[in-house]
Amino acid sequence: FMDNYNLVAIAKEAMAMAYAPYSNFKVGAALLCKDGTVYSGCNIENASYGATICAERTAIAKAVSEGKSMFEAIAIVCSNNTEATPCGICRQVMAEFFQNDTRIVLENNSEIIEYTFDEVMPFVFKLDNR
Ligand code: THU
Repeated sequence: FMDNYNLVAIAKEAMAMAYAPYSNFKVGAALLCKDGTVYSGCNIENASYGATICAERTAIAKAVSEGKSMFEAIAIVCSNNTEATPCGICRQVMAEFFQNDTRIVLENNSEIIEYTFDEVMPFVFKLDNR
């Protein structure tokens, strides 16, 4: 049974794999699919800074490339132990796949906080009414 606590624990395992020699800011994400499987990801930085990929997008890319596109929740943690609110690029990528009620699970100094996707990403851009 994958509750928020378990999902955060998986995100922390992924955070340990972060490649962040430039910022020293490590991020981990754990993406829970509707079928119960979990894909995790970490941030992967680059000497050409803009080529960096965030933890959230690493997890989403892993899942989508394995055929998963229906998601229940994503847990995100970062190395300063405060709320790892996703960046704008990651929110836009989430918007492609997440539903309004997809849960965004964060942790602030050991307290787990849950939002819905529409709370963190109102007024989503979409090409048409897809
Ligand atoms: N980062 C993430 O992994 N996710 C976010 O939502 C915000 C930023 C990473 C990118 C970079 O490696 C480091 O955090 C500092 O920006």
